[in-house]
Amino acid sequence: MRIVNNIAEAKEEIGFARAAGKRIGFVPTMGYLHDGHLSLVETSRRHSDYQALSIFVNKIQFNDTKDYEGYPREFERDFDLALRAGVDLVFIPSDDEIYRNQLTFVDVEHLTEHLCGATRPGHFRGVCTVVTKLFNIIRPDVSVFGQKDIQQALIIIKMAMDLNFPIKIIISRIIREEGGLAMSSRNKHLTPDMKTRARSIYRGLAAAERAIAEGERQAAAITAAVKKELDAGKPDKIDYISLVSYYTLQPVKQIEGTSVLAVAAFFGSTRLIDNMIIEKKEGVFSCVY
Ligand code: PAF
Repeated sequence: MRIVNNIAEAKEEIGFARAAGKRIGFVPTMGYLHDGHLSLVETSRRHSDYQALSIFVNKIQFNDTKDYEGYPREFERDFDLALRAGVDLVFIPSDDEIYRNQLTFVDVEHLTEHLCGATRPGHFRGVCTVVTKLFNIIRPDVSVFGQKDIQQALIIIKMAMDLNFPIKIIISRIIREEGGLAMSSRNKHLTPDMKTRARSIYRGLAAAERAIAEGERQAAAITAAVKKELDAGKPDKIDYISLVSYYTLQPVKQIEGTSVLAVAAFFGSTRLIDNMIIEKKEGVFSCVY
């Protein structure tokens, strides 16, 4: 496994792989790798034969300096995990390498209006800008994003289409800890008590699934079922519990086509997100979470 810090070296390494006829897979991360990231690499491997992974804590996507500064960083541990996951190239640039004199930013409209776009202004502009740059540096054939950040994944798919990136974007399933909490680098900040309480998010999604199985289609009733479970976990703040269309990410009043039930809540000062995709298959709604 090669570890490189600068853009020229990353391009050179990828150039060698491409010249050898390899199909390039790419997983962008902000480090502090966990099984969720490793499963993205596994998914990528099924679609490509050279695995590139970036580690870059992208300052411009944080709207809270404390959150940026406190973001967990343990790069030696990340290298070890990446090596064991069979990653071929780790690209770990400095801030300066990525953003020296940057005046250009990428904004995706409409899809960024609700959910995390509403509660974290500028967040997706930061994500789209860095992902565009990373796509241009790595030039992958395939790139994998996690369902946990469903709004991010759907925005990246739209951005790749709009900007004509010849990249297949894949959404990979959520990996959960025991008890259902979705894996996230931010879980490191949770005390054991917060972790226990935060499992109420998963229980909320499970309650919504049961309600849907019993025939409930109204957003108000479905989000109320989630809230009841979530409230039992005593979150410090609920940012949103929202049912939106999978295609527009605009709120819907009832489930019709494919929808996303999304949750964001704080436990202590840690903001956690989770979601469920609701799809109609052969006349029956199935929930993926
Ligand atoms: O999901 C993340 O870890 C980040 O938003 C990403 C895609 C690596 C961009 O900084």
